[in-house]
Amino acid sequence: KTVTMDEVIGLCRRRGFVFQSSEIYGGINGFFDYGPLGVELRKNIKDAWWQDMVHRRDDVVGVDCSIIMHPKVWQASGHVDGFSDPMVDCKESKMRYRADQLFFAPVIVEGETIGYVSVMEDASMEDEANKKAAEMKRKLGKQGELSPVELKSYDEADPSEYELIPSPATGKPGSLTPPRDFNLMFETNVGAIRNESSVAYLRPETAQGIFAEFRNVVDTGRVKVPFGIAQVGRAFRNEITPRNFIFRSREFEQMELEYFISPDEEEWKTVHREWINWCKEWLQSIGLRPELIGEDVHPEDKLAHYSRACTDLTFRYPFGVQELWGIAARGNFDLTQHQEHSGKSMEYFDEARKEKYIPHVIEPSVGVDRIFLAVLCSAYEIDEIGGDKRTVLKFHPRMAPVKAAILPLVKNKPELVERARGLYEKLQRRFPVFYDASGAIGRRYRRQDEIGTPFCLTVDFDTLEKDNLVTIRDRDTCEQERVTEEEAIARITAAVYG
Ligand code: GAP
Repeated sequence: KTVTMDEVIGLCRRRGFVFQSSEIYGGINGFFDYGPLGVELRKNIKDAWWQDMVHRRDDVVGVDCSIIMHPKVWQASGHVDGFSDPMVDCKESKMRYRADQLFFAPVIVEGETIGYVSVMEDASMEDEANKKAAEMKRKLGKQGELSPVELKSYDEADPSEYELIPSPATGKPGSLTPPRDFNLMFETNVGAIRNESSVAYLRPETAQGIFAEFRNVVDTGRVKVPFGIAQVGRAFRNEITPRNFIFRSREFEQMELEYFISPDEEEWKTVHREWINWCKEWLQSIGLRPELIGEDVHPEDKLAHYSRACTDLTFRYPFGVQELWGIAARGNFDLTQHQEHSGKSMEYFDEARKEKYIPHVIEPSVGVDRIFLAVLCSAYEIDEIGGDKRTVLKFHPRMAPVKAAILPLVKNKPELVERARGLYEKLQRRFPVFYDASGAIGRRYRRQDEIGTPFCLTVDFDTLEKDNLVTIRDRDTCEQERVTEEEAIARITAAVYG
């Protein structure tokens, strides 16, 4: 059985992973807060990425750019003119939809079209549309066989159909406007005077900061093509329909790499493939289940204007297979644009090839929040231990917010508590750990299982009186073993750091 969104959201809320932003004021759509455990998991994802992407590679360096940049950056990149989604308004309810996420179909009975149904994009949208179609047939008292619906996005509708498609909000045909472009960038004003020349944007991607700093990194570092510049940071998009919990939100965090290569006609294909493989292996290394990861190659006629090829790594979320990590071959579009708009040279002199060129780029770009959700969905399990059902998050130890819990068997025996506190303080210097002295031991184990703590260490009477050993319990197998404190620390260290 795969996990449902309700189960994931319920656990996130109950255990303090994710809350709705500004909940005490009724929330604000598309924004989230990460609680005490969520902030640790998020940090583990970013730290693991940075370690593997920047520290453990000789050919990648990092930057950390400002969120607000000169507005010309976004003119050069094409975002001011072209970073938009097609939007549809419901004239009556004032609801707004993304035209490419709004699906519709004619309802056909015995070859006759009796009306139209519409649904929002979702893993179960076909079922929902078929149900609506059956309901329509029943209401209109039509006899005969109903054809299965064939869904198409509103974006691809013929204008003659606009009047016939019902709004999902009101169910009334003819209440939707034709699609129009809606720019996703958040605008703000910089400085004391608010006018047209003070307009600036919150970055919708971290990538442009990297391109804008390309010259400085080349001039001050010791980098040589091929090399990459990595960045982790917040990005903002005024999404028309933020959906599916943290999957599509209005404020999120990206981890992006721009990997610069020569303009060689063949090289980019090899490097592109290498990065797709690297990303896939990395996702598996942090505990994503391989059977949930897929590849989606964008057809050539659907590529963004700057793109030569793009492959998404997808993940099977509870609401359907969706993009997790985009790996694009962007040619030299961005650097060329910035050279034109800034008047500063973006050329690089390649010593080995004895030529000057504007480097091309391969861009693996992923959202921290999407990985967060994928890590949770991969780890979530309900199993049975000795006849009792338990919810357990089988996180990779590197991802687990708490690496070990230290549990004194009882809390009213001072020597035992002192011994457990001592072990806790020793571990605290190495990892995030948790000390829990209250409640029955079985309940304390369950609590740790539910937040994905890979190890529990119990200090009991035998520790003090007999063998000087502690019990280490494995989250996944529930097996317990008596080991020395040093051995326990060594095992946790090995599991977390590999
Ligand atoms: N620089 C390229 C770029 O930004 P993108 O496909 O628009 O490409 C890259 O975004 C990644 O950022 C996506 O694959 C996704 O993981 C994440 N992302 C994009 N929009 C998001 C949103 N509204 N909420 C959460 N993550 C998002």
